[in-house]
Amino acid sequence: MYSIAAPHAKGKSAEDNIFAANNRAIALAKEIGVENVTNATVGSILDEDGSLVVLDVVKQELKNLTPPEFCAYAPIKGYDEFLKDCIDQCFGKSRPEGYIDACATPGGTGVLHHVVHNYSEPGDEVLITDWHWGAYDSLIDDNNRKVRTFSFLTSDGHFNAASFKENVEDILKKQDNIVIILNGIANNPTGYCMSVAEWQSAVDVLKEATKDETKNAILIADVAYLDYSGEKEECREFFKVFGGLPKNILVVCAYTLSKGFTMYGQRMGAMIGISSDKDVIKEYVDINQYSSRATWSNCNSAAQHAMIRICQDPEKIKQLDAERAKYYKLIQERAAIFVEEAQKEGVKFVPYISGFFITIPVTNSQAVCDILEKDHVFMVPLKKGIRLAVCSVSKKKMHGLAHKLALAIKEAGAQQ
Ligand SMILES: Cc1ncc(COP(=O)(O)O)c(C=O)c1O
Repeated sequence: MYSIAAPHAKGKSAEDNIFAANNRAIALAKEIGVENVTNATVGSILDEDGSLVVLDVVKQELKNLTPPEFCAYAPIKGYDEFLKDCIDQCFGKSRPEGYIDACATPGGTGVLHHVVHNYSEPGDEVLITDWHWGAYDSLIDDNNRKVRTFSFLTSDGHFNAASFKENVEDILKKQDNIVIILNGIANNPTGYCMSVAEWQSAVDVLKEATKDETKNAILIADVAYLDYSGEKEECREFFKVFGGLPKNILVVCAYTLSKGFTMYGQRMGAMIGISSDKDVIKEYVDINQYSSRATWSNCNSAAQHAMIRICQDPEKIKQLDAERAKYYKLIQERAAIFVEEAQKEGVKFVPYISGFFITIPVTNSQAVCDILEKDHVFMVPLKKGIRLAVCSVSKKKMHGLAHKLALAIKEAGAQQ
């Protein structure tokens, strides 16, 4: 292929197998009817009738915006009120001790970009879990860093602190900074949630590994699915673990309005930094604001104002919480159907606690998905399994899915 791209860009392309499978499902639904297709690829909440859920309180406040609210340039850092609301909404009653500040980003993706860019060097390894959202690979690779994975879960289904420790220590033998992305709450793709004790064990590993103060650890807590991970305050308790850490450990929460406010396409989020050191937080805001200026500039004004409008009214916050609780419950019910049937069918899955996805570990995942597609069922093949989006499959369509999977696994001669 004739190419004029610079060496670092040559050969890259954003072939996304999730969107590709989704497009095939949509095309088939047009042909044979939506009711005859199960599209388990979509990472957004769909209602029982298959339509995209947009929370009512969000719809109302988007409609109420004035032209300046939706059209004016927002400050590069984000509106102060918006950032304050993000911090409150993220932590709830479990705000960690320390200096906390934030910068607006286009979704959680923007957070990941900036942290990788500003806290690791070209050629460095960035540590992520083996089960991870596919975009992490591109976010790391496009910044000319290298992906390094550790085993997220032990064979009996708990956070694998030993594997985490081994990889952290090994990386820090070669690098002074280690950046880690840990999507430990309602993990995409598995639905695993780390307990408070497990988060504590991760933080303890970092404390031990950075005792020598020439080493720094930057932990991104990717909390994209936080609002659907459990009871509102209980699922936030782990944030307390990030307080009072040594000054060479910085925690960044990748907060996003994509899921919690169902504003996926509005591209809005915030990087929330926590440090025991004032200088670290000042530098954090300075360098990340600079990078915002140098990449996307300022973020979406409309989404920020919609959030401000909701958060300034306790009644609207109540409505928001109630709507989220409703969809959390719906997703849990869908997952319970699959879990029960999968156990009966002998189909193994990675321990699911909450969130948008369940993972079925299996070899030959592409072949299994190809067979399922012949049966009008669309799922996402991963390197070590198959991802089923429980957020988007109705309870009616969830029934029988485990059986179809069992048959497809058998037909493909795949192993679990
Ligand atoms: C694990 C994980 N982190 C972060 C994101 C960020 O999404 P957004 O940039 O839309 O906020 C997603 C979205 O799918 C995700 O699955």
